[in-house]
Amino acid sequence: MRTQVVDHPLASALLTTMRDERTDNAAFRAALRELTQMLIYEAIRDAPTEEFDVQTPVARTRGVRLANPPLLVPVLRAGLGMVDQASASIPQARVGFVGMARDEETHEPVSYLESLPDSLAGIPVYVLDPMLATGGSMRCTIELLVARGATDITAVCVVAAPEGIAALEKSGFPVRLVTASIDDGLNGAAFIVPGLGDAGDRQFGPR
Ligand code: PRP
Repeated sequence: MRTQVVDHPLASALLTTMRDERTDNAAFRAALRELTQMLIYEAIRDAPTEEFDVQTPVARTRGVRLANPPLLVPVLRAGLGMVDQASASIPQARVGFVGMARDEETHEPVSYLESLPDSLAGIPVYVLDPMLATGGSMRCTIELLVARGATDITAVCVVAAPEGIAALEKSGFPVRLVTASIDDGLNGAAFIVPGLGDAGDRQFGPR
């Protein structure tokens, strides 16, 4: 699996704000929005473009647009905090939704919402979730996408644990990962260390 770590001083500073336990919910959401813009910017860097004619106030010239705009799929709840900024960055993108909650004891993901186009053949898909921990939620989401014909999937995550990356690699799914950090690993409660806590709770309060 291709993994790209976005290594940029502004991204590192935003990630530090998100990691800091003193950051309140509003500041956490603001930092997540800003960092999402950087992750999307890097994730889409190699996307194919097409040219078209455009008239400036002075002359006719050639313009550029995305040849095949992606589908954005935030994984609820935590991915919701990424979707506004991602769709602002890619205005032509459509948006689908997946709801996935991790059972706190078994750490297994349970799907509670699936709102996706029937066919994803030929459509690049960007899955938005701040955290890749065990990888269970992402693997389950990707299964839903592959069942609809997706063959070009990008996981956009703020922090990723090596265990989650290994799980995605093992799955053999057509996925690449764009992240701001590969952290040290998971603790006994399957939380990313050092991580940033629970990205859903830190945006929206405890469930
Ligand atoms: C968190 C996070 C991911 C998942 C990562 O969601 O946003 O979706 O856990 O863990 P995994 O890689 O081990 O599956 P959570 O289940 O806490 O739900 P929430 O977003 O509604 O808070």
